[in-house]
Amino acid sequence: MKLTWLGHASWLLETDRQRILIDPFLTDNPSATITADELDGIDTILVSHGHSDHTADVAQIANRCHSMVIANFEIAHWFAKHHHVKKTLGMNLGGGVMLPSGRVQMTTAVHSSSLPDGSYGGNPGGFYLQVEGQGVYFACDTALFSDMRLIGGGHVDVAILPIGDLFTMGPEDSLQAIKWLTPQVVLPSHYGTWPPIAQDARQWAARVAAETKSKPLVPAVGDVLDL
Ligand code: NI
Ligand code: MN
Repeated sequence: MKLTWLGHASWLLETDRQRILIDPFLTDNPSATITADELDGIDTILVSHGHSDHTADVAQIANRCHSMVIANFEIAHWFAKHHHVKKTLGMNLGGGVMLPSGRVQMTTAVHSSSLPDGSYGGNPGGFYLQVEGQGVYFACDTALFSDMRLIGGGHVDVAILPIGDLFTMGPEDSLQAIKWLTPQVVLPSHYGTWPPIAQDARQWAARVAAETKSKPLVPAVGDVLDL
């Protein structure tokens, strides 16, 4: 599979069967190198919670690419009702569903989830995917929580964790998360977009390498990783 960081908390996961976009925030994202209309052929969009830095470009891309939007029940309903997204799938924490590429489960996140117009956005979540024989965990916006150690039942091969601090866990707590999740590979997310969440990802990677058994990867925005 291929994984591309699109900036902030936006990721593109490509398998043989699907192009899955996570939390698209591109056009108004100062760290993105492409705008939303430059993305094509998106089959599925996963939305972790309602905040605009995760939902801003969902409707534009979904309506143009005829993508399926998968989110919690409240957010899926909101996109269908207010943005005329045709294909939505509402789920909730702990639930899973089969996609052409494999299973996706919505995991707990400790955060908040109001929608841009103030609508109730349900509970925030993350995603655990089983694709092409690998367990991939997108923690999305969350604090550290000890039940994280149960996610994937010990089968997290790739973990994508926030390190920006302030709104989510920071570098220090991400190290504890890595020790619990024991992924083979870990990538940082939700940092560097604006000054309040600036982080030195190289320094984070050095600590991950020294203090955990996981391999840190720090892609630049737009780098395509083969995992
Ligand atoms: Ni958020
Ligand atoms: Mn966020």
